[in-house]
Amino acid sequence: MIDNITVQRIIDAARIEEVVSDFVSLKKKGANLWGCCPFHNEKTPSFSVSPSKGIFKCFGCGKAGNSVKFVMEHESLSYVEALRYLARKYHIEIKERELTAEELAVQSERESLFALNSYAKEYYCSMLHNHIDGKSIGLAYFRERGFRDDIIEKFQLGFSLNEKDAFVKNATTKGFNPEYLVKTGLAIEHENQPLIDRFRGRVMFPWISLSGKVLGFGGRVLDARTKGVDVKYMNSPESEIFVKRSELYGIYQAKQAIVKADCCYLVEGYTDVISMHQSGVENVVSSSGTSLTTGQIQLIKRFTNNIVILYDGDEAGIHASLRGIDLILAEGMNVKVLLFPDGDDPDSFARKNNANDFVDFINKNKTDFIQFKINLLMKEAEKDPIKRASLIKDIVQSIASIPDNITRSVYIRESSRMLETAEQIIASEVAKIKNKKSFEEKQQAVRDAYAEERKAAAEAAGIVMPNVKKQSEPTVPQIKLDRLAFNILRCLLRYGVRKMGVWEETKEDVYVAPFIIDQLERDNIKFQNVIFQKIFDEYCEKFGDLKDDNVIEKKEYDGPQLKDGEKEDEKFITYYKINKTSQEIEHYFLNHPDAEISTVSIALLTDKYEESNLWRRRDHESNRNEYEVILNEAKRVIFEYKIQLVEIAMKKLDDEMKKASEEKNSQREDELMLELMENQKTKTRLSKDLGDRVITP
Ligand code: CTP
Ligand code: MN
Repeated sequence: MIDNITVQRIIDAARIEEVVSDFVSLKKKGANLWGCCPFHNEKTPSFSVSPSKGIFKCFGCGKAGNSVKFVMEHESLSYVEALRYLARKYHIEIKERELTAEELAVQSERESLFALNSYAKEYYCSMLHNHIDGKSIGLAYFRERGFRDDIIEKFQLGFSLNEKDAFVKNATTKGFNPEYLVKTGLAIEHENQPLIDRFRGRVMFPWISLSGKVLGFGGRVLDARTKGVDVKYMNSPESEIFVKRSELYGIYQAKQAIVKADCCYLVEGYTDVISMHQSGVENVVSSSGTSLTTGQIQLIKRFTNNIVILYDGDEAGIHASLRGIDLILAEGMNVKVLLFPDGDDPDSFARKNNANDFVDFINKNKTDFIQFKINLLMKEAEKDPIKRASLIKDIVQSIASIPDNITRSVYIRESSRMLETAEQIIASEVAKIKNKKSFEEKQQAVRDAYAEERKAAAEAAGIVMPNVKKQSEPTVPQIKLDRLAFNILRCLLRYGVRKMGVWEETKEDVYVAPFIIDQLERDNIKFQNVIFQKIFDEYCEKFGDLKDDNVIEKKEYDGPQLKDGEKEDEKFITYYKINKTSQEIEHYFLNHPDAEISTVSIALLTDKYEESNLWRRRDHESNRNEYEVILNEAKRVIFEYKIQLVEIAMKKLDDEMKKASEEKNSQREDELMLELMENQKTKTRLSKDLGDRVITP
């Protein structure tokens, strides 16, 4: 860990224009520098660098951030790695921060598991290449299958000796902790017995993560015993570091090829992946033994939107394809299918064909999912109207899972043509299914997306999400509340130091930040998102300037309030002078040493919602002066948030009332009714115009 002071020193030293110039040629134009964006293809520069803000931003693809973010993105580094890179560039010595006991425990356990797996991989490789059995049995097996040496090397294949505890003994003498041997699954523990090896007499296939770490292993028995009692493949169990449902075998070796081809082939097994690489087709991964999951599809989605399923043509393959199709469509991706006929699979096919022929074959024979289903079911369905109806239903089901409206309507048209069924019928069936998808399902989807987004943001910032116990999941209204909180923070960070009015009597300026701060504190509002709250708290502490000598005016407060408090203070509203510039504030948050705060701040300060929009939106309202625009914006973000709070409260009351009415508790019902009416009043008042009597611009 790098301590915060050093992080801040690195960030302060790393001038964005210098960091970017190492990779992009920049030209000065006005206050900013411009160049061609390194993150997407373009001929005319839309990539800008702002030395004063310390950030880059591409107006073409939308990528934005500070110098650390630039290095992370450009060099595919983690947050900490990017900091180290910058430290080297600016000759800053890194002082490691002492970790807390908890951080240390979590980190050191994960690192120990990875270290052990990495050692095991080396060990199995060495057995394959150096041990007499490894050479005569393991290597001979690979040779027999036709695996070339460079491919054995590329996939870091190995061999486990057919002994009870060869690896356990070796690793123990090397000082590896027996506890970790069990946790990685490399060893098996039976009660009161010494540990034994999980993998014995098998050729070994390590699973490598995106970043090159060894997650676990698959071990295949050798041909002689395939038909015996032994399972063909033995796999590492799930562990803290091996979560199978979100990993894909081969992703490490395939990621670049997937990006290059803008397409990913999905196959069933280890050997399919390896044989395809050997024949020169490298954009291929496998879910290897687990049925495809949304997590795995999302992993592919980081590199391409196009998936081609290449499975066996047998019953299991068909079933798996049908399942996969709907999952892939639901992620908004394009899916094609090719089932290999006559006992062929990608492995055997790759051994008989070179890369060009293989890809040609795929391109000629892959079908979209409608054609795939029609081919599968049409033969039976042609004459049987009931079967035909169920085929249409089946296809409609798939189409309904496509999230994008346009794509969906294209498929509706396409399938109506192929099924010779009126477009309206299919469209209305699709609509029915879509409506049937229960509220909960939608809620779940939003929740997942939300969690994924947070995780991705955290990952991008190089933070390991702690394995905290899941608190209750946010509901849709709560997520909306979060979005509105985001708007408040955006207004605070961007326009906090702007004036939004003048006092009639004193002609003193009135600023945005104290207004927002007052509005939140008045109703005792705490953001549910801890990062948001941290940003708000720090803003108040560092830039709020809520000091007595900054007081401009103290006035009686006459605006609405969610709950009437008892505090004397609440009867007044105090206006403060702000002595900071927006540059100081932006710089502070954009370059915050806490990576989560800086990531959120970058989003707050660099998204598409530019100030010009603020003006444009008000264009039709004639003769607005700057004060009014800013004032309206500040009020809008606050109202919307508070209205949402009231709505959440009203929904809760409503639910309680239903319960009370079911229980025939009419007294409780009346109480709740009164409360509900109170809330309704507050809402109406908020909606009308909060605080318009407080400030006269
Ligand atoms: N699999 C598994 N455990 C098994 C059988 C299969 O984990 N007992 C997984 C493996 O990832 C395997 C994939 O399912 O690669 C496909 O199984 P299969 O077609 O039987 O194996 P292949 O990879 O084709 O292996 P081989 O060609 O060597 O028989
Ligand atoms: Mn096979």
